[in-house]
Amino acid sequence: MYRTKMRKKSCLCQNIYGLNCISICLAPAEFLSDKKSNSRCRHYQQLACCLGTLCIILVLGIIAVSVYHVTSIHEIDETELNQLKENQTTLNAVNRNLTKLNNKLNSDNEDLKRNQTKLTLQMNNLTQVITVLEKNVTNLTAENQNLRGKNEELEAEKKNLTDQIQNMTTSWNELNVSRAQWSIDAYCPKTNNNRMCVVCQTGWLPFQSGCYAINNPKASEQKTWKGAQDDCIGKISDLAVVNNETEKSYISDNSWDSSGNNGYWIGLRVKDGNWKWVDGRNLTKSAWIPGSPTDGQCAISVTNQGFKSVSCSEQNRWICKKKALTL
Ligand SMILES: *[C@@H]1O[C@H](CO)[C@@H](O)[C@H](O)[C@H]1NC(C)=O
Ligand SMILES: *[C@@H]1O[C@H](CO)[C@@H](O)[C@H](O)[C@H]1NC(C)=O
Ligand SMILES: *[C@@H]1O[C@H](CO)[C@@H](O)[C@H](O)[C@H]1NC(C)=O
Ligand SMILES: *[C@@H]1O[C@H](CO)[C@@H](O)[C@H](O)[C@H]1NC(C)=O
Ligand SMILES: *[C@@H]1O[C@H](CO)[C@@H](O)[C@H](O)[C@H]1NC(C)=O
Ligand SMILES: *[C@@H]1O[C@H](CO)[C@@H](O)[C@H](O)[C@H]1NC(C)=O
Ligand SMILES: *[C@@H]1O[C@H](CO)[C@@H](O)[C@H](O)[C@H]1NC(C)=O
Ligand SMILES: *[C@@H]1O[C@H](CO)[C@@H](O)[C@H](O)[C@H]1NC(C)=O
Ligand SMILES: *[C@@H]1O[C@H](CO)[C@@H](O)[C@H](O)[C@H]1NC(C)=O
Ligand SMILES: *[C@@H]1O[C@H](CO)[C@@H](O)[C@H](O)[C@H]1NC(C)=O
Ligand SMILES: *[C@@H]1O[C@H](CO)[C@@H](O)[C@H](O)[C@H]1NC(C)=O
Repeated sequence: MYRTKMRKKSCLCQNIYGLNCISICLAPAEFLSDKKSNSRCRHYQQLACCLGTLCIILVLGIIAVSVYHVTSIHEIDETELNQLKENQTTLNAVNRNLTKLNNKLNSDNEDLKRNQTKLTLQMNNLTQVITVLEKNVTNLTAENQNLRGKNEELEAEKKNLTDQIQNMTTSWNELNVSRAQWSIDAYCPKTNNNRMCVVCQTGWLPFQSGCYAINNPKASEQKTWKGAQDDCIGKISDLAVVNNETEKSYISDNSWDSSGNNGYWIGLRVKDGNWKWVDGRNLTKSAWIPGSPTDGQCAISVTNQGFKSVSCSEQNRWICKKKALTL
């Protein structure tokens, strides 16, 4: 019996899990009409029915929540994905920009390195130039100082020379005056408080534009050609230089008491293989002296015989000549 009850109960309970359960629970009158021994079982049935319902509601709720959740996560994912895609695009662009920037910076860097190398070379060059210039400046400074010293020396020397010139000018002026006095006395001698001027000094013979001193001492006082020239210089004159035939004749005519190789020295001698006058001119009229010129030979004038070549060391008389005064 119990077993049947139990079987009935289980049958009912099995129903609980069926979809009819709700209708069973909501229609208790059917069970109430059963015996009192079954009332307890009905009570459990109701409880179980309610719990089952709750279970179903709970499961449904969970499912609902889960479905909601899944959909919402899906939605969020989609938005994020889009944003991520966007962000990726942006980041790609930024990356490209950065790559470009990197490339530019790299090339700039290489440029700068090259420029730095160039600048280093230029700086080295400039350093060298500066070194040279500094040396030059030092040199020039030293040279400048040197020149200053030299300049001072030269200034002192200049002052010395200026003084000397002043001194010499002073004495030259004094000399001029005494010379003038001498000239006046020589050419315009005083006789009875009167001065009479002549073109040649006393003892000198005037001829054309010259004055001639015929030196005719005794044999012991005769001179070599050099001695004779020195004597003429002492008289502010030279051994006679003959310019033309007229003068040559005059000299010959005045070569008194001459004969053979005893004549009068004139201002003509051989120098470097040429006949030369004492005023430096060459003898142009080679016919005036016979024979080829030999060094150590000098010319004498002999009456009626013209000029002759004799050794300069011979002792002879001599003729001095100076310019005549023009009055
Ligand atoms: C996308 O980038 C913006 C700024 O540009 C940032 O605020 C956002 O968080 C980024 N989104 C993701 C999913 O990284
Ligand atoms: C990339 O650079 C260009 C100019 O160089 C600029 O206009 C652009 O906005 C930059 N893009 C990004 C994403 O920075
Ligand atoms: C390198 O020097 C050149 C001229 O010598 C100049 O034109 C260039 O701009 C310089 N480069 C940099 C990166 O400064
Ligand atoms: C350095 O100077 C030399 C001549 O002194 C010249 O040839 C060279 O070009 C210079 N270099 C630079 C970088 O200026
Ligand atoms: C330095 O001076 C020398 C002569 O003393 C000259 O030849 C040279 O050019 C100078 N150098 C410079 C860089 O002026
Ligand atoms: C400096 O001057 C001396 C002579 O005074 C000369 O020999 C030398 O070369 C000069 N040096 C320079 C760098 O000009
Ligand atoms: C000036 O000249 C005299 C000689 O006339 C000489 O003795 C003297 O040393 C000179 N003085 C100077 C500073 O040159
Ligand atoms: C110039 O003459 C004066 C006096 O006559 C003398 O003291 C001075 O030393 C002379 N100077 C020179 C340079 O001869
Ligand atoms: C001194 O005489 C010469 C000629 O012998 C003349 O040239 C000079 O001017 C004269 N000097 C003075 C200061 O008169
Ligand atoms: C000859 O020379 C003298 C000077 O020695 C000169 O006075 C005279 O006029 C000259 N005679 C001829 C003709 O050239
Ligand atoms: C004199 O003559 C010689 C040789 O004929 C010649 O070399 C010299 O130049 C002449 N001198 C003068 C001052 O004419």
